[in-house]
Amino acid sequence: MELKDKNILLGVTGGIAAYKAPGICSLLSKQGANVKVIMTEAAQKFVSKLTFQTMSRNLVYTDMFEEYPQDAEVAHIQLAKWADIFVIAPASANSIAKFANGIGDNLLSATFLAARSKIMIVPAMNTFMLNNPATKENMQKLRNRGIEVLGTHFDLLACNDVGSGKMLEPEEIVEEIDSLLREKDLAGKNVLVTAGPTIEAIDPVRYLTNHSSGKMGYALAEEAQKRGANVTLISGPTSLSRPKVSKFISVISSLDMYQAVTEHFITADIVVKAAAPADYRPKEYHPQKIKKETGDEFRIELERNPDILKLVAAKKQDQIMVGFAAESENELANAMAKLTGKNLDMIIVNNIKAENAGFQSDTNVVTTIDKHKNMERIGEMPKTQLAKVIWDKIKRTFL
Ligand SMILES: Cc1cc2nc3c(=O)[nH]c(=O)nc-3n(C[C@H](O)[C@H](O)[C@H](O)COP(=O)(O)O)c2cc1C
Repeated sequence: MELKDKNILLGVTGGIAAYKAPGICSLLSKQGANVKVIMTEAAQKFVSKLTFQTMSRNLVYTDMFEEYPQDAEVAHIQLAKWADIFVIAPASANSIAKFANGIGDNLLSATFLAARSKIMIVPAMNTFMLNNPATKENMQKLRNRGIEVLGTHFDLLACNDVGSGKMLEPEEIVEEIDSLLREKDLAGKNVLVTAGPTIEAIDPVRYLTNHSSGKMGYALAEEAQKRGANVTLISGPTSLSRPKVSKFISVISSLDMYQAVTEHFITADIVVKAAAPADYRPKEYHPQKIKKETGDEFRIELERNPDILKLVAAKKQDQIMVGFAAESENELANAMAKLTGKNLDMIIVNNIKAENAGFQSDTNVVTTIDKHKNMERIGEMPKTQLAKVIWDKIKRTFL
């Protein structure tokens, strides 16, 4: 996350979703951001000032004409200057109309007029209010001015209508803030990431697979997308929710993954192969469930799947190729052999036996080795943070 020490100004307006805004405040504070809150008069009908004061550990601003003790400058100018990003969540139809039309009749709308930071609007309202041509036009006006106006969820709303208009969840909003604040240093790059395991069917019920969770690959794909890359993620079956990437391709078997990778490899600038495709598949697929009466012993004959990394690396032109190695012994020697044998630019070695590392874990400990044989051990950290470190390294070494 890029939120540590960032100054985030949160505007809260009078919608029922205001009850979720303290959650946004709390998540931001936990990430180390400094949060200041402006509430409209209507917002204070839904949530108290005290709640935000406690969550943000800061004074809450509500009145344009009040003199705030610590601030020498008038509040709307001082707050606009202070902010690295100005987020309005929830944004009511009324406030959106004011923002679109340059009205500054309360502290929030006046601060909006004086803003010089990035701005994000998070609408929340009844479906009919959202679809009203006036609201639609106002939101489009703001988008045309380069302001980030987020979408809404389709759900049963507080007013009992079913439709669009439900505010995004605090976690989603914080992700969007993080993304907007990110330097777009991978803009214009086509990034191909593979993630997760593959599964190889034995019969309609049973299959062979491995422990890969997809977490590392998903984190790398999401990080690249946040930095402005055009990301294609090819994923085997995982239990993770679908990440926000330009293109998501779901595959089942190693053969499917090989086909998808071959198709997308040519247009990629950078390829990160974090998947753990199965090396072998059953030689024979039984179209009917195999009965247990078959006997006490049961043998499955396996055949080799294509070595995706090796086959694709052989077609390499200018692509930067980064591979992963999961090793349980002789990790560095094995990884070095893989780096040269598969024509890679960098290999990232997981020691799957280390504590808090490897498959399923939310954290990882890795060693990176590049083609110039530079080696670096990266200590235990969350996979999301490691993704950031890996992209920084790819950028420094190759771009
Ligand atoms: C119970 C209740 C819920 C409301 N929920 C919303 C809402 O979700 N979105 C919205 O745009 N307006 C909503 N309104 C209407 C706004 O509160 C009203 O337009 C107000 O003037 C907004 O003021 P503000 O933009 O200065 O905060 C609601 C009103 C009430 C009484």
